[in-house]
Amino acid sequence: MNTSTPLMVRKLLVDLSQGLPRHWLAGKPFRSQYFNALSMSFPVGEQEFIDAVRAAAATLPADADHIALQATIEDFVGQEATHRRIHDLYNEQLEKQGLVNHWQHWVRNQIELGRRRNVPALSRLAVTAAFEHCTAVLADITLHHPEILQGADPMLAMLWRWHAVEETEHKAVAFDLYRTLGGSHGRRVRWYMYAMWRFTTMATGQTINNLRHDRMLFNAATWLDAASFFFGRYGLFWLTVGPIFRYIKRDFHPWQHDNRELATAWLKANADHYSVVRGPTEA
Ligand SMILES: [Fe+2]
Ligand SMILES: [Fe+2]
Repeated sequence: MNTSTPLMVRKLLVDLSQGLPRHWLAGKPFRSQYFNALSMSFPVGEQEFIDAVRAAAATLPADADHIALQATIEDFVGQEATHRRIHDLYNEQLEKQGLVNHWQHWVRNQIELGRRRNVPALSRLAVTAAFEHCTAVLADITLHHPEILQGADPMLAMLWRWHAVEETEHKAVAFDLYRTLGGSHGRRVRWYMYAMWRFTTMATGQTINNLRHDRMLFNAATWLDAASFFFGRYGLFWLTVGPIFRYIKRDFHPWQHDNRELATAWLKANADHYSVVRGPTEA
């Protein structure tokens, strides 16, 4: 698969207006609040991915060699825009539960800082490619190890898996655009280190804040769950450390890990739960 492959834009058929269980992931506060924190980052974060990719794509030559790439970029935008909308609805419910989204402000401040410092479009794209790799790694784990969402509220399990499927489908779009525009390995790795640091600190900060508002921060069960979530069987740390560091290899490409069958299998099994907005009729 390469970036010229068209992507399908889907509408997930879920109704988030009825509210969400507070500890929707197997009744466990830590992992519920960790996933909630990630959801809080998406509306602003994914808008930045869209803006960064579009700004960089504007510098592509308008010739026949790049028509397919431009079309796939618009599909990428369509998928990320749908994710933003769904996570906005999800986050509205979190707000009703008393949680406060700080992550969105941290991202906005960073974007503003980047603008003031005139960060070039190619570096902004490198940051997007970096975050897209992080989400693709988390998406792969979510699809590959269904145990991670075992005991989850069925609607939220479906939402996270649908998002994971589409992150898998478009995992190489920002990366291939970066490469097509001649982005260097050094710049890619430097911004990746920055993105990893930002992701770790913001995910930690927002999860702790969520647990504080949930009145579960000073609770032994919360931290036992955190230890098992990161370091137990199917622990996130063990599952992510290899794929996360593979990105710094000079010859890395997202499709060296070909996991498209995970996405295809989920789409086939859950065809009743989404409608097709546009794109190829077969996933
Ligand atoms: Fe997304
Ligand atoms: Fe994405």
